[in-house]
Amino acid sequence: MILIVGGAGYIGSHTNKLLRERGYRTAVFDNLVHGHREFVKGGGFIQGDLSDREQVRLCFAGNPIEAVMHFGAFAYVGESVADPAKYYRNNVANTLTLLETMQEFGVKHLVFSSSCAVYGHAEAIPLTEEHPLRPLSPYGRSKLMIEEILADYDRAYGMKSMSLRYFNAAGADAGGEIGERHLPETHLIPLAIQAALDRRRSLVIHGTDYPTPDGTCIRDYIHVTDLAEAHCKALEYLKRTGQSGFCNLGTGKGASVKEIATLVREISGKDFPSAEAEPRPGDPPVLVADYRKAQELLGWRPERDMGEIILTAWAWHSKERDREENI
Ligand code: UFG
Repeated sequence: MILIVGGAGYIGSHTNKLLRERGYRTAVFDNLVHGHREFVKGGGFIQGDLSDREQVRLCFAGNPIEAVMHFGAFAYVGESVADPAKYYRNNVANTLTLLETMQEFGVKHLVFSSSCAVYGHAEAIPLTEEHPLRPLSPYGRSKLMIEEILADYDRAYGMKSMSLRYFNAAGADAGGEIGERHLPETHLIPLAIQAALDRRRSLVIHGTDYPTPDGTCIRDYIHVTDLAEAHCKALEYLKRTGQSGFCNLGTGKGASVKEIATLVREISGKDFPSAEAEPRPGDPPVLVADYRKAQELLGWRPERDMGEIILTAWAWHSKERDREENI
């Protein structure tokens, strides 16, 4: 059985669904602070919090867990700057409880949700894994700290892990069952789609004077189902090789904020106004992944393009709007 910590969240729930389709037995452990019970499509569900060691131990004692996937973290970059204590407690200290419990129960394989936020400002594009690690926020530092802890756990205790450095997760399940539901929503694609769904809203473009062709930030948007695929492959890699590692997950292609807005207008067929605003503090101008290491290690490559990201996200958020109107 695979234990999916944070499996009721955005990326965790897509991974749980894919693992089930591939025939894995799974159990989701989630505190439902940001996760949603109805996003858990099959497998066991345990409502619990990593801050409660006894609850975590009971989960391991009661289930035949062979490997863990750890998605459970707070992920609002701005909030992490305002309240770092919350991020170091939840993302770092609580992960230690998980690792200690894995060790106690002899569970040796972990797939960890890391982030491109470990790099900071890109000195060269595309970003390879050799790029210096200079995170700009407590969120990024919390992810880097865990990567370093995992390297020590491997050296000392032989725990094998794969840290997956996601670029910008986007899109939704092709079946329309699950998608992105963040409260509050801060991510570009959902906000652009919400502007398209509701003409009263405009999209706020943060920063139009960046050193990029159209002056807006460039990001590498990667479909959430491609991320889920990479988790399955990372699990197989750990079993096959017994080696730890880390790698980027992105598409190698960047899109600017203005390009995303245009694509959302095209795909939705709806126009919406956009307003220019100050840059968000700490936003790097360009982040694009070199994913060759993931290709070499895991045999993974992104299969879904920007069009599919926006189409699946549009379908999901349209359904979400109907759901909200019926509440
Ligand atoms: N943006 C806008 N308007 C908005 C929202 C976002 O212009 O209303 C811009 C941002 O300034 C940024 C781009 O759109 O340039 C993408 O922003 P997102 O908030 O969608 O994503 P981020 O790149 O800020 O964040 C993502 C992940 C984080 C991770 C970070 C690493 O969500 O978890 O990348 O840089 F830490």
